[in-house]
Amino acid sequence: SLSNEDKACLRSVWKEIGPSWPEHCPDAIYRMFLSFPSTKTYFPNFDISPGSPQIQAHGRKVADALNKAVEHIDDMPAALSDLSDKHSQELRVDPVNFKLLKHTMLVTMAANYPEILTPEVLLSLDKLMEAVSRVLISRYR
Ligand code: HEM
Repeated sequence: SLSNEDKACLRSVWKEIGPSWPEHCPDAIYRMFLSFPSTKTYFPNFDISPGSPQIQAHGRKVADALNKAVEHIDDMPAALSDLSDKHSQELRVDPVNFKLLKHTMLVTMAANYPEILTPEVLLSLDKLMEAVSRVLISRYR
């Protein structure tokens, strides 16, 4: 889980990554579909091609959710409660998929912010994605 050092690191680096992440997050979603085709089954109505308007729109929503997560880093379960219901109970996304998206998110961050992503920062971002994923899959029944 996130230590106080991780939280401080994330608050600080997110000032640099957060504002432009909505532009890049769609690439992370596209990479997920490309590298792990089984993830496409959750998006039967999506146009899965580079620059697809649906992937753009979806990437922006996911980026907004990450912004919110960092903003409420001490209170993520409450801040992400609706998203948790949605992913656990409505979409029923298998938890393994969160590892796949985490991977393509970190790769996309490393590609776009090479000078920001020192090994220490990468570790904190990895833990952030784990923490967000844990909240989103916390309501399975
Ligand atoms: C929808 C965030 C992981 C599948 C959404 C929405 C957000 C979001 C903000 C829009 C919710 C709304 O419109 O009410 C996230 C975050 C994730 C994550 C922050 C991980 C950190 C995943 C994964 C999958 C997935 C791993 C499956 C591979 C979906 C689907 C939708 C959705 C199918 C509905 C898309 C649509 O029909 O427009 N997610 N998500 N999500 N998510 Fe996730």
